Amino acid sequence: MAPASRDDGTGGAYARAPRAHDAEITEVGPGTPCGELMRRYRHPVEKSERLGIKPMNIRVLGEDLVLFRDLKGRAGLITPRCIHRGAPMYYAKVEDAGIRCPYHGWLFDTEGKCLDQPCETDRPEFRARCRQPWYPVEERYGLVFAYLGPPAKKPLLPRWAPFEDIAPDQKIVTDAASFSVGGDDTEELIPWNWLQDWENTMDPFHVVILHTSFSGPQFNPEMAVMPNVDWAVTPLGMQYSAYRRMTDGEEMVGVTHVMFSSLRSVPIVQLSHGVAESMGWLVPVDDTHHRTFHITRMPEDFDGVPLVTAPVLEKKWSDMTEDERWRAPGDWEIQMGQGPITLHGEERLAASDRGVVMLRRLLREQIELVREGGDPIGVHFDPSVPAYHIGAGNFYRDRMATAGA
Ligand code: FES
Ligand SMILES: [Fe+2]
Repeated sequence: MAPASRDDGTGGAYARAPRAHDAEITEVGPGTPCGELMRRYRHPVEKSERLGIKPMNIRVLGEDLVLFRDLKGRAGLITPRCIHRGAPMYYAKVEDAGIRCPYHGWLFDTEGKCLDQPCETDRPEFRARCRQPWYPVEERYGLVFAYLGPPAKKPLLPRWAPFEDIAPDQKIVTDAASFSVGGDDTEELIPWNWLQDWENTMDPFHVVILHTSFSGPQFNPEMAVMPNVDWAVTPLGMQYSAYRRMTDGEEMVGVTHVMFSSLRSVPIVQLSHGVAESMGWLVPVDDTHHRTFHITRMPEDFDGVPLVTAPVLEKKWSDMTEDERWRAPGDWEIQMGQGPITLHGEERLAASDRGVVMLRRLLREQIELVREGGDPIGVHFDPSVPAYHIGAGNFYRDRMATAGA
């Protein structure tokens, strides 16, 4: 029997809506609809420079795995329990040809093929059947990218135009700092669902309130101006264009772009004219944790972590006290406060949430496309496809006119 409605029309908390999250667009484990969509893309799982001779336990899309690099420099990603009798491959040692289990010494290469079984009389046909489950990895831009999807659907690892053709006096800075507030380099597991973070990127209005008038200018004082906003679906995801008249009278268009599977380019810290040269991935670790990886084109002599958010209290976020975080909350405080997975059943979406609504709709469409056997937005299998343009950036009308743009 259905429970009797508690709603007595007073608006009291006793009658509030059921507390539920939307599993379809948030949960990423194997076999889930969104997890299957996510498994059609490559995800960065670690910075290349951190992967040395010691295997690393990693978790991505709800799967526990071991990442390693053999002594020839090849990266590999395997399941964490040795297929022989379940020893932890985290304690394995690497050698030229692969990774050797600490228990009975079975040796596996980066594709899980068993190359040696020192306690056995060698029987090649038995050894061939002993394959450690593995996933393909590829390195680019200082990151190790993993592909956890069906082999027949493995797309090429895209190239991104702002990070190609690096000049001799430039470099790509790769960081895994969680929110990098004030140049913070804290590498923390972010303890909430990836979608909270991603859809926040399509909410230009909280920039005016949270990041400027409420907490002080965490990006730039000019962000206090309420923008006029256009929205558009793009070949890679969606973007907004925020139009503002700046204090010097110039009109500036700030374009922020989110790309599938869970990338973003947010160019609002520096208000310099032109295409953004930074981009980040929000990688689902599991349903209630994610990590971020950023790449930024910088001068060769740059040292540190590029600014994502400016420090309003002249402190890095990791040095702020709880009281200081109350005085100047930022994305971390808000998104963590929404809970491990926000309760979509409680939301009251309004007109200013248009970007969030569009992004969720696009996400559902891609989930459906994959469910029907199609290839989702932004994946490609053709090596002749040129590097992707991000299109994000800050563009000043007058300067564009001068440049004949
Ligand atoms: S458990 Fe790995 S070789 Fe025996
Ligand atoms: Fe934000």
